[in-house]
Amino acid sequence: MSDEVDPAVEAAWAYEDLHVNALFRQWAVPVLDAAGVRSGSRVLDVACGTGVLAREALGRVGATGAVTGIDVDGGMLAVAESIGPGVSWIESNACDLPFDDNEFDAVVSQFGLMFFPDRAQAIHEMLRCAKPGARVVVAVWDALERSEAYPISVHLLQRRAGPAAANALRTPFVLGDTNKLRGLFEEAGASTVSIDTRHGTARFPSVRTMVEADLRGWLPVMGVSLDDDLIELILDEADDVLSEYVTADGEMVFDAPAHIITAQA
Ligand SMILES: C[S@@+](CC[C@H](N)C(=O)[O-])C[C@H]1O[C@@H](n2cnc3c(N)ncnc32)[C@H](O)[C@@H]1O
Repeated sequence: MSDEVDPAVEAAWAYEDLHVNALFRQWAVPVLDAAGVRSGSRVLDVACGTGVLAREALGRVGATGAVTGIDVDGGMLAVAESIGPGVSWIESNACDLPFDDNEFDAVVSQFGLMFFPDRAQAIHEMLRCAKPGARVVVAVWDALERSEAYPISVHLLQRRAGPAAANALRTPFVLGDTNKLRGLFEEAGASTVSIDTRHGTARFPSVRTMVEADLRGWLPVMGVSLDDDLIELILDEADDVLSEYVTADGEMVFDAPAHIITAQA
């Protein structure tokens, strides 16, 4: 029997161990608050990844509620399943949700919308699956220039690895413009849209772990693989150019603001 590790599952564990704690976990509570999730709610988490938001929702809805998480990536779902029993995990595309109309009391999604092939269609699907009057709540990063550290990382990648690598790191920030965001939700059929921009804090164990997670974890997901020599060169330079975000105990801490959009059909 082969004990080879599936690369998609390995990448998902790396995501859970590094990116979730450093960036994503802190948004679960405000997203669920905005969605009005409470005891007995039926909740759908779209682009659930390894399930940090769905697990938090499960704790709120209790035995009388139910939580479903969907994601297009089987590796993410394998990890979600192993650490989040009690949630229904389903492999599916956000643009074509496998649910009836009006099924959920709340539909939530954090930091996935920027990657969907048809964003308006995905929002339309989320609105369709929400019961009349239920909220659809989506979190996306604010613009790159309003985040700290990442503009420097992008610039470093542009200089050392070229535009494809730099663009892979720009993509998570492409929905930062609130006017365009509002227009996107209205185009998708939302009748009410409110946007709450919030302060967030990224916290990595070190500069090296942050940049290495992006170079070895994130860039390959976006179709960009760098060779080991280039990765080492970039990591050495990163220690210098990102030193202003290093705390006395060696952690890397910086502002990472996000928009929480609340919409109704
Ligand atoms: C940055 S992760 C966020 C995951 C999770 N929501 C969290 O907070 O940790 C983005 C997720 O979007 C998923 N994704 C990208 N395109 C998708 C699509 N078309 N349909 C469903 N999920 C998608 C990815 O597989 C990944 O798990």
